Amino acid sequence: MPHWWQSGVIYQMYPRSFQDSNADGIGDLRGIISRLDYLVELGITAVWISPIYPSPMADFGYDVADYCNIDPVFGTLAEFDQLVAELHRRDLKLILDFVPNHTSIEHAWFRASRSSRLDPQRDWYIWRDPSPTGGPPTNWLSEFGGAAWTWDAPTQQFYYHAFLADQPDLNWRNPEVQEAMFNVMRFWLARGVDGFRVDAIHMLFESEELIDNPPNPAWHTGKSPARRLLRVHSSDQSETHAMIRQMRRVADEFPDRVLIGEANLPYPRLMLYYGESLRGFHLPFNFHLLKAPWQAPPIAELVRQYEAALPAGAWPNWVLGNHDLSRLIDRVGGIAQARLAAMLLLTLRGTPTIYYGEEIGMRDVEIPPQSVRDPWERNVPGLGLGRDPCRSPMCWTPQPGAGFTSGFPWLPLGAQFTRVNVQDESQDPGSFLSLYRALLALRRAEAALSVGSYRERWVAPQLFMYERTEGTHRLLVALNFSETPCALPALEGPMRILLSTHDGVRPRGSMMILDAYEGVVGDL
Ligand code: NOJ
Repeated sequence: MPHWWQSGVIYQMYPRSFQDSNADGIGDLRGIISRLDYLVELGITAVWISPIYPSPMADFGYDVADYCNIDPVFGTLAEFDQLVAELHRRDLKLILDFVPNHTSIEHAWFRASRSSRLDPQRDWYIWRDPSPTGGPPTNWLSEFGGAAWTWDAPTQQFYYHAFLADQPDLNWRNPEVQEAMFNVMRFWLARGVDGFRVDAIHMLFESEELIDNPPNPAWHTGKSPARRLLRVHSSDQSETHAMIRQMRRVADEFPDRVLIGEANLPYPRLMLYYGESLRGFHLPFNFHLLKAPWQAPPIAELVRQYEAALPAGAWPNWVLGNHDLSRLIDRVGGIAQARLAAMLLLTLRGTPTIYYGEEIGMRDVEIPPQSVRDPWERNVPGLGLGRDPCRSPMCWTPQPGAGFTSGFPWLPLGAQFTRVNVQDESQDPGSFLSLYRALLALRRAEAALSVGSYRERWVAPQLFMYERTEGTHRLLVALNFSETPCALPALEGPMRILLSTHDGVRPRGSMMILDAYEGVVGDL
C-alpha cells in the first residue's frame, strides 16, 4: 500500500498571499481555513505552508524568531490547531516548513549568543575571530548579496550567515542545538502536523577549517553575485547526512509522517539525501525541471537521468514552481506550453508539488520599484533575482482585491485577476483550472498514473511519449512540445483518449495527430 506522500499531490501555499481574513492585506490562517473546500475540489492531498512562525519578516518568515508559535500576522496557535483539525476532517495533510539552518537575529537564542562571549549559548551560532588581516574569516558569500560574515562590534567577532545578516546560521555541531531543534519538530508533530519541508538543508554545515571557496569559472555578470564562488567549503558537507538521519528518527517517532528536503543539487549529490538504506529524506526535492530547456529531447533525457540515478526503492518527485522562481507560464513561454507542462508534472512517476496559483495560470506580476519587498531584490537590484513577482496574492474573483483581501494587498495584484481567477475559471471547461482539476481527478482515478511504473516510449524533436503501467493497466502520455501539429508513431492498437490539454475535461475518441502543444493521456 503506497503512502499518502507517494500516491498524493502536494500543494504549496505562500501564506501571506493565499487568503486574507482581516483586511490587513496579508493572508492568514483563518483565510486558509475558509478556502479548504476549494482544495478538496481541486483534488490535492497535502498542503505545504511556507513559514508561519513569529518573525521580523526580513525574509518573510524564513527568519524565525520563535519556532514554537505562530506569528500574529497569521493568527494564533489555537487557530493553527483549528486548521489542522479542519484539514484532517477533509482528509487533507499538513506539511510545515522547518527552517533548521538559521534563525532570526531576534530569536532569543541569538540574542543570548551575541550578548557575550561567555554566554552559555555563544556556541549555538558560528562565531569566529577576524582573519589575520582583520577581515572576515573566509571569502564566503551570502546568497542574498555581500559577505556571509557580519562583524559584531560589542563582542569583537564575526558571525556566519549563509543568507541575510538577519539570518545567523545555527551551529549544528553543538548537541544542544540539535536537541533543541529535534524538540521543535516534536512540538509540531505532536500537534498533528504530517511532515516538514526542510529548508536549505545543504547549507546546514560548513567546513570547520575555514577555507576560502574557489572562484566559479562559469560565473558572469548578470548572475547572482553569490555564484562568483563555488560553495565547496560552505555547502553540501558530508556531516549533513548524519543529521538528516536523526531528523528522520524524530519523524519516525510518529506514524506516517514525511520529510521533504530542499537541496538544489545535481542528481548524484541529491540522491545522497535519501540517506543510506533510505533512512534520510523521504523526498529530496527534485528541482531539475525548473531549469530544463523546454523541448522534448532534453526533458526526456532529464527524466531518464533522474530515474536512473534514484537509489533502489527511492520514491521520485517533481516540482514546476515555487516561491523562489518565476511562475510557470513566464518560464515555459506561454499558456499552451504551461498546459502541456501541467500534464507532464501530473503524469510523471513521482509526487508532484503544485505552487498555489499555478492551477489557474497565474503569471509573474510586475513589481514597481516602490513596491519591492524581497530582500534579495533590495540587496542585489536589477538582475531579476527578486521573488516578489511569483508571490503576488491568489486571484479568487474578478472584483477589486481579487477576493484575496478587502484591504490593500501587501504585494501588487497586477491586472491579471480580472481574467485569471478561480470564480471565472470554475465556470469554463476550457480553463486552466478545469485542466488541473481533470488531471488531478485522472491521477486519483488511475493507479497507473499515481503509483505505476514508468517507461519511455518515444522521443523525437517535437514529441515525448511515455507509458505508465500498474498491473495490466497501461496508460500512454504523449506530449507535443512544438508549435506545429505532430503525428503519433504507430501504436500497437487503438488508443482511447482519456484527457487532452486541448479540450479540457471532455474525453474524445481515438486520435493520431496532436495539435500544437497538445498533450494527451490515453488508455492502451
Ligand atoms: C530557501 C527558501 O525557499 C527561500 O525562500 C529562503 O529565502 C531561503 N531558503 C532562506 O531560508
